[in-house]
Amino acid sequence: MLVIGRMKALFARTSYGYEVLHKVRGRNTVWVKRRADVLNFVRPGGVGVELGVAAGDFSRQLLSRPVLSKLYGVDRYFGDRGHDDGEYAKAQRQTAEFADRYSLLKQTFDEALPTFADESLDFIYIDGYAHTGQEGGETTRQWA
Ligand SMILES: C[S@@+](CC[C@H](N)C(=O)[O-])C[C@H]1O[C@@H](n2cnc3c(N)ncnc32)[C@H](O)[C@@H]1O
Repeated sequence: MLVIGRMKALFARTSYGYEVLHKVRGRNTVWVKRRADVLNFVRPGGVGVELGVAAGDFSRQLLSRPVLSKLYGVDRYFGDRGHDDGEYAKAQRQTAEFADRYSLLKQTFDEALPTFADESLDFIYIDGYAHTGQEGGETTRQWA
């Protein structure tokens, strides 16, 4: 049993295995080597949202590429797991040079949702808490 469990875990870590196990095979899944490469699939001048910003490392990476006309970041900074006001300040510093193209919303995902009209976003990067399965899939369902 242990061996089968290990083999399944290894299989799940391949892109093919992930698609089969999560039943998303053939559903326009795109795999990228570096996560910032998601921008290769966004139209120039596109608008995006990053759900879960923390210190803003990935926001900076996205903004450093001349693709998006606007990026929104959403993070509540409640203090859980070290994601607190100090980190919020760091995220603001890290993204300050892109202030004309970036807005950081200090809100929960639920609070931020009504800010965005349906079909108004070119991409949504969901990076809340993986250990909760992004609220058991609720975040994905609400924002899709
Ligand atoms: C893994 S970190 C984000 C890392 C960031 N995307 C990066 O790559 O640098 C997860 C963040 O999601 C935020 N978060 C988790 N659940 C949230 C929710 N329901 N509403 C708002 N923020 C949330 C946490 O406060 C935390 O800062």
